[in-house]
Formats: sequence, structure tokens, C-alpha cells
Amino acid sequence: MKKVITYGTYDLFHEGHYNLLKRAKALGDYLIVGVTTEHFDLARGKVNVIDPIMTRIENVRKTGFADEIIVEDHEGQKIEDIQKYGVDIFTLGSDWIGAFDYLKPFCEVVYLDRTADISSTSLRNGRFRLVRVGIVGTGRIAPRFVSEIKYVSGAEVVAAYNPERQSAERFSKSYDIPCEVDDYHAFLDRVDAVYIASPNETHYEYAKKALLNGKHVLCEKPMAFTKRETEELYRLAEERDKVLLEGIRTAYTPGFQQMMNVARSGKIGEIVDVEACFTRLANENSRERVDFRYGGSYLEFGGYAMLPILKLLGSDYQDLRFRSILDETGVDIYTKVQLMYENGMATAKTGVGVKSEGQLVIAGTEGYILAESPWWMTKHFSVRYEDPDKIESYEPNFQGDGFRYEISEFVSKINGTGKNDYLLTAEESVALAGITEEFMRIRAAQQEEN
Ligand code: CTP
Repeated sequence: MKKVITYGTYDLFHEGHYNLLKRAKALGDYLIVGVTTEHFDLARGKVNVIDPIMTRIENVRKTGFADEIIVEDHEGQKIEDIQKYGVDIFTLGSDWIGAFDYLKPFCEVVYLDRTADISSTSLRNGRFRLVRVGIVGTGRIAPRFVSEIKYVSGAEVVAAYNPERQSAERFSKSYDIPCEVDDYHAFLDRVDAVYIASPNETHYEYAKKALLNGKHVLCEKPMAFTKRETEELYRLAEERDKVLLEGIRTAYTPGFQQMMNVARSGKIGEIVDVEACFTRLANENSRERVDFRYGGSYLEFGGYAMLPILKLLGSDYQDLRFRSILDETGVDIYTKVQLMYENGMATAKTGVGVKSEGQLVIAGTEGYILAESPWWMTKHFSVRYEDPDKIESYEPNFQGDGFRYEISEFVSKINGTGKNDYLLTAEESVALAGITEEFMRIRAAQQEEN
């Protein structure tokens, strides 16, 4: 009996998939089809697959060509499967020519002609109108957004806005994206959604105007400085049926989600203490170092450091304290936040003028999780116990600078295919704003004293 194996995502099952499976089956007597998991696709950089795995498996099954369906979830699995199932022929479409020649020592490798003019990607793009995104603010983050959105199908940057002419012109020239300098409304007219990456103090106004004009909004943190304003933005979004997301990148990455879930799984017992630190020394002339009102370490990095704390211990704290080291202009070059809960405690540390170890420690009654710097990108973390020899390491996948996961979530939400409300909820975003508000009150008092 000749055994054939083939693999795919089979998202939005189409004619190309059908033809491929039919011909794969005809190559032998018994066809095994490997369907990828969501995790594996994310790891391979396929960030916006729509159909859940069970649907994709069911669609393959319905063709009647597969004698056996297996799940593909890790790199290197193909060789394992070929050996395990005693496969004679490995086959894939001609878009992969050459890519799997490394399997030749293990079995015959056949590339079948791909069906012309159809793919899951084109279906995903055709099913939903291309989301036209406009970037507000053309500073340091905007170029990263432009390069990362390329990995997300169904969205494209079509315009930018920056009242600062010089920055606008520089950006326009480098990225060939028209940049509006005067008229925010004219800019909004050209887009379906905005990504707001302007200075902190302008986020709320830009977001509000965009929502009032019926645009979806992805806004850099902090979205607003008060709880009331943040709630107002979510209300506006809800009333207009628009997507509003706060851009705390870490929240959307698969590794961070996995780490939160491992923490909640009971592996380390009851979670008692969360300590998160994020420092990055900023240039003396940078906005973070000179703007005593809207710069400083907490407004810059507090969103990241508070995220695991709110995720794991919630926002029902009994006590919240800030301690900041201010420089002569009043900028907090280092801030420590301490929270007390009924059965736990937490510390967040942020710095732009003080350097420390950027790690995250989640302590429980039976063990702890340690995520070393840069834990906010979550490329690895480990679970540790009393016995120092017992260490469980996790190496979640992380592509690019992680931006693509956030953009992908934004686009999926706009298209109504994202169900991931738990990644960063409106409640968490509002709770963060409440803490920011308290921080700003306390820092203003401290600035006054000095
Ligand atoms: N395939 C094909 N003809 C097409 C599209 C896909 O023969 N027009 C084949 C691929 O070569 C692969 C299998 O179908 O062997 C599964 O491919 P998959 O990556 O799931 O489908 P695509 O449509 O290529 O998906 P995407 O656009 O997301 O890359």
C-alpha cells in the first residue's frame, strides 16, 4: 500500500485545496492530511487565519479524499510523521517547490501544480473590504507599524496625519504615504480606521474625533489620562459599532497569553505576588525625558508593567501607592507602584532615567514564573519550584517586533472575525486609566512640593 501525506491550513476551504487533495490521493492508496493548529500558524507568521481548526478539519474530511487526518503543531513534525506512518510520498502544491526537498532522504517528494488564481489569502481579502488605515503621528513608532502591517492580510496604510510639517514630509517621502498636515477631517475621510501614535496628551482627542466620525481606532497607550475619558471612548465606540483597542502590544502576543494561562493553571498554586519591571534609558532630549507633564517613565511603560498585574490579580485592589524619583524638571525618571489585594500584592517598576533588571516574576504558593527581559515580548519564560533542578521552560513563538499580532487583532475585530475579547478588555483598559489618573494626581502633588 502506497501512503501519501500532505499538509495545509485549509482556511476558507476552496477549489485549490480540493484539487490538491484529489490529486494527492491519486498518487497512492492511502492519504494522510495534516491540518495546522492555530498556534502553529501563528508561529509560522500566518496571523489571520479565520476558520477554527475543527472547521478546517471538517472541510478536509468532507472531500472524502483523506483516509486519515492528523494535526500539525510543530516545526520538524513532518519528518516524524513520515517515519511514524511509514509514508512513501510527501506532496504539496507547486508554490512550495524546493522548500521540502530536505524530506527526500525520507520519502519521495512530489510538487503538484497549484490551481491558478485562488488562495485563502485572496479569499480573505475579497471577503472583506480592504481596511484602509491612517496613521496619526509620524514619529518613531509609525515606521514600525508600516512594516508590520504587511504581515496582516486585509489592511493597508493609505494615509497619515501630522500637524508638524517637517515630520510629515519626512515620513511621506520615506514611505510613499500621503500625509495630511492641516485638516484632520480630510484625513479621516480617506480611511476606515486609524492607528494613533501621536504624543500621549493628544491620544484622547484624536481618538474621540475619529470615533465620532465613524472610524475604528487602535490607540497607543495611554489612550487617555482619566477613567472617565477612557469610559467615554469605549461608549462612543460601542454606540457607533466601532472597534476601539488600546495598543499595549504585549497583551496581543501569543507568548504573553500563554504565560498568563500557565500562571492561572494552578501550576504555581495560588498567585500571591506579581513583580514587573520595564526600564529603558531615554535620550536626555527625548520627549519622555523633557515633558514633565506627559512624559516620564510611568506614562511611557506603566501600561506594560501593570498589564500582568491586572490580568492576574484584577483591579479590585485595596491599596495603591506610587513612589517616583523626579529629576529637576519634574519628570519621573523612575516610578515604583505598589498594590495590595486581599490575598496578594504586586509591584510595577518603570524607568527612563534609571536602569534595572526588566523581569517579571509571578510568585505562587507552590512555585513561580520567571520571565526575563524582554518579558513584554515574551519569547521565553520558565516555571520554577522549590527544587532548583526542576525548571519547566517555555519558548513561545514571537514574530517581528510583535506589532503584527496587535494589528491582526484590530483587523479581525473590524471584520467581525476576532472573538478574542479577553486579550485586552475594555474593563482592563479602563482600570489602567484609573491607575494612570491616580499616578498623575500624585506626581503633580510631588512636583508641587519640589
Ligand atoms: N493549494 C493549491 N492551489 C491553490 C491554493 C493552495 O494547490 N490555489 C495547495 C497548497 O499548495 C497546499 C495546500 O493547497 O499544498 C494547502 O494550502 P494552504 O496554505 O492551506 O492554502 P493557501 O490558499 O495557499 O493559503 P494562504 O493563502 O493562506 O497561504
